[in-house]
Formats: sequence, structure tokens, C-alpha cells
Amino acid sequence: LNIPDLIRKKRDGEEHSRAELEGLILGYTRGEVPDYQISAWLMAVYLRGMTPQETADLTLVMADSGDQMDLAGLPRTVDKHSTGGVGDKTSLILTPMLAALGLTVAKMSGRGLAHTGGTIDKLESFPGWSPELPEDRFLAQASEIGLALVGQTKDLAPADGKLYALRDVTATVDCLPLIASSIMSKKLASGAHTVVLDVKVGAGAFMRTLEDGRGLARAMVDIGTRASRLVRAVLTDMDTPLGHMAGNSLEVQEALSTLRGEGPEDLTELCVALAVEALAAHGEDSAAAEARARATLTDGSALAKFRAFVEAQGGDASLVDHPERLDVAPGRLDVVAPASGFVERLDALAVGRAVLVLGGGRERKGEAIDHGVGVELLKKPGKAVEAGEPVLRLYHRDGRGLDAARALLEAGLSVTAAAPQPQPLILDRVN
Ligand code: URA
Repeated sequence: LNIPDLIRKKRDGEEHSRAELEGLILGYTRGEVPDYQISAWLMAVYLRGMTPQETADLTLVMADSGDQMDLAGLPRTVDKHSTGGVGDKTSLILTPMLAALGLTVAKMSGRGLAHTGGTIDKLESFPGWSPELPEDRFLAQASEIGLALVGQTKDLAPADGKLYALRDVTATVDCLPLIASSIMSKKLASGAHTVVLDVKVGAGAFMRTLEDGRGLARAMVDIGTRASRLVRAVLTDMDTPLGHMAGNSLEVQEALSTLRGEGPEDLTELCVALAVEALAAHGEDSAAAEARARATLTDGSALAKFRAFVEAQGGDASLVDHPERLDVAPGRLDVVAPASGFVERLDALAVGRAVLVLGGGRERKGEAIDHGVGVELLKKPGKAVEAGEPVLRLYHRDGRGLDAARALLEAGLSVTAAAPQPQPLILDRVN
């Protein structure tokens, strides 16, 4: 394989074969092809793009570059992926809903980085809960409860890890076929038959416009189809955080009230919509699926699955019934409306960064975090406020990061005289 020839081919806008991509990507993963050649190739991909067939081939090559989870022994497996948001506690609610609906979730989740939170961090708000399970216990728990959730244990799609690090330093991250193949390589290697994608669009998201979001969703659904998996995507607004809470323990409390049927409307709506997509992928009629999905939040069945899941992974399940006992930082500070009118903008990125500087997130992998700090959105966009009325509440520990967090939130908040148009949460669906 002549690497300069392959770089030239992509530079001139030609299409790679699967064998060529294997040579490039697997050679790179094994350390045989150097960074500088792959850097040039990535830039050529960035400028020239990839065909749907090339994108699917690249994804399969990356998925095959390391271990793959074998979930074939489990019935009706489903995975969920969100492209990342602020206050996004959807997985905590959706996964026990799916288990209660008779689907199987055997899932690997991540930790938070920068302004986005991670499911594993949120679950570690339960003292004792562990994201580490040996594979046989992971599969047995998924079979018994319908839900097992661990941190990434296996060496899934190592080619993606290496390529992502190189993209990060060569200005080639925001490239649609590279993002789609990166996300889907990990989902394919994770083994679930069905994947439901929540593609976030807006200020706090990777994709800033609906058009870009649609393009990414279509590319990922197409990869799934070519790989014989069922993939469905929902495009959702991420201009403002989901629900009212951002920060680990605070989000767990909000997830628990949603599992009791008492959650915020936007969060409930999104979880039901994603559950409907998962059931529809398994052939259920959408209207019936919606009624079944909603029922899991009011009849206690999703909450029961969540309790069993926390307990099975060593967590203090009594907190599921006493969420007020979760550790929430005692310090409070309110950010108030600068004028009377309506909340116009409550920037998701600003809220995410505020949680980070309060100590609830990490700048670098491996850093410890404070699960108890966070931000509460007392008034979401569209709500009427009086000048001086609290709009946001900070939960801080001994004032750590407080001034910086307040400044971020004040800059991310605007109040307008005229009532703004309500923004729908679910912007589109792709399947
Ligand atoms: N998330 C990923 O996993 N990969 C990307 O390229 C972008 C977001």
C-alpha cells in the first residue's frame, strides 16, 4: 500500500475502497503509518468529504480495530447515544424505562469532560455505585434486570481514540463523515442491535444549526443501515439546558422525580420520544408505544428497574426513595433578572461552564469532581420575570468558583420586553 498515493487520491476527491481504508487506518492503529501522513489524509477528508459508502467502510474498519462486545445472547438489545449537552440526564431515565418496556440495555457510558456531563459521574452520586463489572456479571445483570451500565472496560474502537486525538490537534474535528464514523464505530463495537441517537442542536451542542444536525443524523442512520443495525435519530434543541438542574447530584434528584412521573415537561417529553423510537425500531406502532412508554413513569415500573440497577452495582438504593439525602452542596447564591420582562436566553454553554468552575466537572481526564455543586434554572426561557427576581440558583461548596460562575451565568442570561416565541424541543426525526 502506497500511503502518499492514498493521500493524493483523497486530495483529488476520489473514493477509497474498503481495502484502502483498512490499510490506512489499521496501519495507523498498529503504529506503522506515522501521524504526519494521517494528518495530511485527515485534512484531505476534511476538504473533500467522503461518500456514504466510504463513511460506512471507515466506520466498520474502526469498529473492527479492537474488541467488540458480543450481546448476541441478550434479547432486544438497545443502546442510546447523545451527542452531548448540558443538564442532559436523559440516560438515567430512559435506560430504566427501556428495561421496564422489555428491552435490554447493556451499555458503556462515559464520564464528563469540559462543559458536558457524563452518565457515570452522575451515577457515582450514589455512594458505593461502581461502573466496573466483570463481563460475565455485566451480561448476567443485563439479562436479569434488563439494565447494566459500565464505564468503557474493553478496548473498543482504538483506531477512533488515536484518530480523535490527531483530529484535535489538526483542526479536523468538525467534519461530518469523521464525526459520524467516530460515534458510530463505538456504537457498532458496543454490540447493541438497535441504537437510538439524540442529536443535539444549538448553543450548547456540537452542531449549531438544524441543517448540520440533520446531516449528521442522516449520516449515522445510513452507517447503521449499511452495518445491518437499526438506528433512529431524534434532533433536539440544546440552546438551553434540559430540565431545571445541571450538576451531578442535582441531576440525579431531577431524574428520580421524572422516574416518579413528576419531572419537567421537556425532559419527560424527550425520554418518551426516545423510548418510542426504540420500540418503533422493534416494530411497535408509535401511538401504542407512546402510551406504554409514558406508563412506565407513572406506574413505578421504570423506578423499580432503576432501584434494582443501582443496588446490583453496589449503590445505596435507599437514596432512590430518599433523594433528599443525596449530597448537595450547602452554599446558595441566586442570579437575578436584570430587568422585568421574559427570559429570552439561558445559554446552555454558560450553564455547563458554570458547573465546571464550581467544581462539578473536569478540564482534563482523570480529575476528581464535586458531585454536590451545580446550577438550578428557576425560570426557563419564555417565563415572565420581575427585575431582581431570582432566575438561576448556584449550589456551591465554600464559595469555590462562585465569582467566575456568577459572571458566566450573568453573561449567558438575557431578558426581553416581548414574550419570545416558544421553541420546540424535538426539532426533527431521522430513520
Ligand atoms: N463525539 C465523538 O465520539 N466523536 C467525534 O468525532 C465527535 C463527537
